[in-house]
Amino acid sequence: MRALVTGGAGFLGSYLCERLLEEGAEVVCMDSFLTGGPRNVEHLMERPGFRLVESDLTGFVHVPDRLDLVLHFASAASPADYLRYPIETLRVGSVGTLHALGLAREKGARFVLASTSEVYGDPLEHPQKETYWGNVNPVGPRSVYDEAKRFAESLTTAYRHARGTDTGIVRIFNTYGPRMRPFDGRAIPTFIRQSLTGEPITITGDGSQTRSICYVEDTVSGILAMARSDFAGPVNIGNPDEVTMLELATLIRDLTGSSSEITFVDRPADDPKVRRPDTTLAAERLGWRALVPAEEGLRRTIEWFRAELGALELLERAI
Ligand SMILES: NC(=O)c1ccc[n+]([C@@H]2O[C@H](COP(=O)([O-])OP(=O)(O)OC[C@H]3O[C@@H](n4cnc5c(N)ncnc54)[C@H](O)[C@@H]3O)[C@@H](O)[C@H]2O)c1
Repeated sequence: MRALVTGGAGFLGSYLCERLLEEGAEVVCMDSFLTGGPRNVEHLMERPGFRLVESDLTGFVHVPDRLDLVLHFASAASPADYLRYPIETLRVGSVGTLHALGLAREKGARFVLASTSEVYGDPLEHPQKETYWGNVNPVGPRSVYDEAKRFAESLTTAYRHARGTDTGIVRIFNTYGPRMRPFDGRAIPTFIRQSLTGEPITITGDGSQTRSICYVEDTVSGILAMARSDFAGPVNIGNPDEVTMLELATLIRDLTGSSSEITFVDRPADDPKVRRPDTTLAAERLGWRALVPAEEGLRRTIEWFRAELGALELLERAI
């Protein structure tokens, strides 16, 4: 098995590279380092069969030799990142996906698109099933991400029907774990960082909006189950345990033993009110479901952040 992981030096991509190598695959990790970096895969550099290539997927892309699998994960993913890089996000979702699909077709490889629960927008159906078409504002600030992913799903489906490419689409729900950047703006890294440094915890809105959070090891198992299948999807990959933002902040504060106060700030435009996957399809077609409870996953993530923030502090003192 020889696999290409686009966005392989990002949070999810780095775990995919790691797991594929453990399973005996050769891995080409392609990344422009826009929001990820070599540090996420530095522990893989000496492993036989691993290659890191710095390349922007929206430019000319070439991968020599055969490929059996293309996992297309390149894209800014945190709201802070895609609002900072709106055009880049639309380009990688459109032109980048076209290039990744072209490569998969040329090599006769299976192609798996990292889509997102954000294709459901601010959902009017709850929990969200794959049959739901979503409620997305095409000109809202989040549209650069949501619509890029919706276009990518459409393009992937067209390649399957018009070009005969073996494709699969996973709609990934909020995933967390070690290697998230403390300042990436997503709720879990923000709450953990604020709790560990004693800063006030900033909840957007009144904290009643919900998310369903999935530990990274579970998400990666679901994605690889999809990669091994010949199922087109789309299929939801997420943990159906739903929590409000206020519950999540309180849980993180308790697990870190912090005394940070909880404060409320403005909620961003078009922020979804609820989010929970219906994972029946993943269970039926892939035999997959999330296994790691939130408390356990958060404990592991907090330990990693403790070390990471400690190292950052030492660095700051040294400068
Ligand atoms: N983490 C989640 O909760 C989540 C949820 C739903 C979907 N996803 C999807 O999974 C994928 C990875 O998300 P993540 O959380 O690991 O984000 P991330 O920002 O950590 O990783 C994305 C990677 O893509 C790279 N990249 C961006 N544009 C590129 C380009 N033009 N060419 C090559 N590389 C490029 C970045 O440098 C980065 O390393 C994304 O496609 C995202 O939409 C993630």
